[in-house]
Amino acid sequence: MSDDFVHQAAQWVSEYLAGVGDLPVLAQVEPGAVRNALPPDPPAGPSSWAEIRADLDGVLLPAMSHWNHPRFFGYFANSSPPPAIAGELIAAATNQNSMLWRTSPAATELEEVVTGWLARLLGLPPWFAIVHDTASTSTFSALAAARHRAAPTASEDGLAGHPPLTVYASEEAHSSVAKAVMALGLGRRALRPVATDGGARMDPSALEAAVEADRAAGAVPMAVVATVGTTAATAVDPVPALAEISRAHGLWLHVDAAYGGAAAASPSRRWVLEGVADADSVVVNPHKWLFVPVDCSVLYLRDPASTRAAFSLVPEYLRAAEDATNQMDYSLALGRRWRSLKLWMVMRAMGTSGIVAAIEEHMRLARLLARWVEESPGFEVLAPVDFAVVNFRWSPPGLGGAALDGANRELAEAVNRSGRAFLTTAPIRGMTALHASVGNLGTAEADVRELWDAVGAEAGRLLGHLTPSLP
Ligand SMILES: Cc1ncc(COP(=O)(O)O)c(C=O)c1O
Repeated sequence: MSDDFVHQAAQWVSEYLAGVGDLPVLAQVEPGAVRNALPPDPPAGPSSWAEIRADLDGVLLPAMSHWNHPRFFGYFANSSPPPAIAGELIAAATNQNSMLWRTSPAATELEEVVTGWLARLLGLPPWFAIVHDTASTSTFSALAAARHRAAPTASEDGLAGHPPLTVYASEEAHSSVAKAVMALGLGRRALRPVATDGGARMDPSALEAAVEADRAAGAVPMAVVATVGTTAATAVDPVPALAEISRAHGLWLHVDAAYGGAAAASPSRRWVLEGVADADSVVVNPHKWLFVPVDCSVLYLRDPASTRAAFSLVPEYLRAAEDATNQMDYSLALGRRWRSLKLWMVMRAMGTSGIVAAIEEHMRLARLLARWVEESPGFEVLAPVDFAVVNFRWSPPGLGGAALDGANRELAEAVNRSGRAFLTTAPIRGMTALHASVGNLGTAEADVRELWDAVGAEAGRLLGHLTPSLP
């Protein structure tokens, strides 16, 4: 390894960042493209940077979908700006693994500092926090703690013979809640989907009725998961009312603010985290809308002792000498990447004013797109634009029901195939919507315009091929 890989890679990265906007957003390759282009046997001898770079540019780059592209509007769009990349580089170079305080005092304590900064930025209470890879892991960990509180013997004895434990989340909640329930051994049916109102928000009276019915049937209601910014409609569950019900019934309240929590940085959106101080745990994902690349998810815990009780299991070789936080006590994973470094770099480099300005600009761009949609015959906005996501649909004349949903899916695919922009679809009140999320720091008004032009152009092209489904 005589080549200077780090400098060469830094050069590659800066060229990539300068040109990413000119690449097709979605990888334009077929399944197998990478697998078939690379040899099945590992190289017997060393390869130079130049040889490796040839494969990077020739095989891997064409097979990348560019999440860091200014016209990536799918799912929840996000960013990987240079300070975050520097954080990733230095975390890798220093190879910090903060399983114990002594194995990285820097990573352990920076995590405390930076999660505290984030809590202050978002108006969250000064709770203990732990950085996980994803919101799925954070929610799993929160529900593991909730399970420990509801069934303290389960970690020793398992759940056999225990009355069924039940968990409540709205029918719009993310699938990670169901996965956590399955992985915790509660059984998928333990998750009760609670009805929502017309705005896709959990209905508190439906929650209360479900809890009471389960209790009457001999189950042990364990936890409620509220969502701030649902995956499809970006709806905000009524957390204050859900907190009151949770308290009255002794349930753990976990708030999934993986996407929506970031918006609370803006004074105009402080309301989205209203009531969260009365919850037991909340997850916010900096890798969604706080300008760090995947992975980085922050789990805040009112009472970290229950999480510690759920996860702490210390073999002799890991016995700690110091009286300090040992992060392995709060998670399933033992080894831990230094994820807080990239968040720290971004918060230092942007400052809170820069972060707030970026979030407000993204919301402005989303409202602008929503206005263009509303002003265009044949298009309509399907959900309120409270964050930086626009759910809208195309209603070509003569189409309804499944055919209309199909036409919207086809339109999304056509835009994505064009490479000009990338957007996804989402279910809104039983309809298939086009889902455009503004979340990349490089996205400017011209990029949103290009998305809208691509939607218009592809819709025009598709019109010629549509078969009306209505008489
Ligand atoms: C509301 C919500 N919660 C949780 C998740 C899961 O996020 P992660 O990929 O970090 O596990 C998502 C993913 O989009 C989401 O939309």
